[in-house]
Amino acid sequence: MKLYIETYGCQMNVADSEVVVSILAKSGYEVTNTHEDANLVLINTCSIRENAEQRVRGRLQLFASLKRKGHELLIGVIGCMAERLKEKLLEEEYLVDLVVGPDAYRDLPKLVATAESGQKAINVLLSREETYSDISPVRLDKNGVSAFVSIMRGCDNICAFCVVPFTRGRERSRDPKTIAIEIQKLIDSGYKEVTLLGQNVDKYDWNNGEMKFAQLLETVAQMSDTMRVRFATSYPQHMTDDVLHTMAKYENICKYIHLPVQSGSSKMLDAMKRGYTREWYLERISAIRSIVPEVSISSDFIAGFCSETEEDHKETMSLMKEVGFDYSYMFKYSERPNTYAHRKLTDDVSEEVKGRRLSEIIDVQTQLSLKSNQRDIGKVFEVLIEGVSKKSDENLFGRNTQNKVIVFPRKNYAIGDFVNVRVTSCTSATLKGELPE
Ligand code: SAH
Ligand code: F3S
Repeated sequence: MKLYIETYGCQMNVADSEVVVSILAKSGYEVTNTHEDANLVLINTCSIRENAEQRVRGRLQLFASLKRKGHELLIGVIGCMAERLKEKLLEEEYLVDLVVGPDAYRDLPKLVATAESGQKAINVLLSREETYSDISPVRLDKNGVSAFVSIMRGCDNICAFCVVPFTRGRERSRDPKTIAIEIQKLIDSGYKEVTLLGQNVDKYDWNNGEMKFAQLLETVAQMSDTMRVRFATSYPQHMTDDVLHTMAKYENICKYIHLPVQSGSSKMLDAMKRGYTREWYLERISAIRSIVPEVSISSDFIAGFCSETEEDHKETMSLMKEVGFDYSYMFKYSERPNTYAHRKLTDDVSEEVKGRRLSEIIDVQTQLSLKSNQRDIGKVFEVLIEGVSKKSDENLFGRNTQNKVIVFPRKNYAIGDFVNVRVTSCTSATLKGELPE
């Protein structure tokens, strides 16, 4: 039996798909890379913004049309849209056979068997305990260099705009012993980089204080000094100095922090229920820079949240410049059903204004990224090689510790090698380099 799985959304979904493949291997499913020869198509979905759901709907339409043409195919929706829309997905026009939420993947063999027998199957129960800790994910990445390891699930933060607490349930941490076992397997099979994942990694807490995130990070860093360690995502309010000191202490912990701020206006941060102010955030940035000087920092921004004024928007742009982010992910606010913002606030910034503000912050970031990259010209970085450049077979690409992509001549190097590269030029998106003599 062949399984084709498509994954949308965050890194957590990528990690979850690997758990799903592992679980379904036990019912005799093996992965295929095309939907054409699949018996079962699973779409691991994202609900974070309306357009993420639209993209999935487009795919569902395609698979439903294949089914109408006579392809014998089971279609499953898993992940956040499954959790959010529940049985509604079975009633819509997409010929969906099964709907499985993020905490119900252990039930997949049974649910798939039900679907195989011609009945619709659904399990969208959320759990307070499930971390899939004993399941050994089947790696779906192509290069065997870099892997995601999930250390927590869910989120208890209830930011006003965010659907994640509703689709992924309560926050829970995974047993550190099983995290270590999973990482040891990666080391043994030649992986060179792990990224520890959680919606809120700094809140990692095993057994009420027995192990916190800084200790977990240290434990993982000590497992192999040639394996890079990354983590995502940090939440400003919970990003503590002990994590920063651990980063500074270990060479193999990458000097990169993704610290979503969302807005530069304290008034908006309050409306978003983020629990910190602009000043608090700036204080965290200076702590980061003083403890881990060579760090690069990226962020997330939402343009046009409820009641955002031109003044608030300007504060966002001024914060961006003040911090000088190396990179950012930027989005137009998209109202999500059942969130606090949907229930209590008014989505009152017009589409046009959202679009204009978004393009203005993108322009600011593009300038900042370019400046950040220009500062790297002439420097030598250790790069972990991830693949062959899309633009030319003659070039390879990889990342430095700061998570910046560097393209350089192939020579005799291979994917998975560490190599020193001197940066010679850049765009706002990439560094180009050469191999020192
Ligand atoms: N803690 C999470 C955040 C998940 S959502 C993590 O691990 O990254 C990722 C980003 O999507 C958020 O930081 C926010 O900038 C954006 N986002 C979330 N909800 C949104 C919404 N309703 N509209 C627009 N952007 C949103
Ligand atoms: Fe969403 Fe805020 Fe949690 S952005 S994932 S509710 S930290």
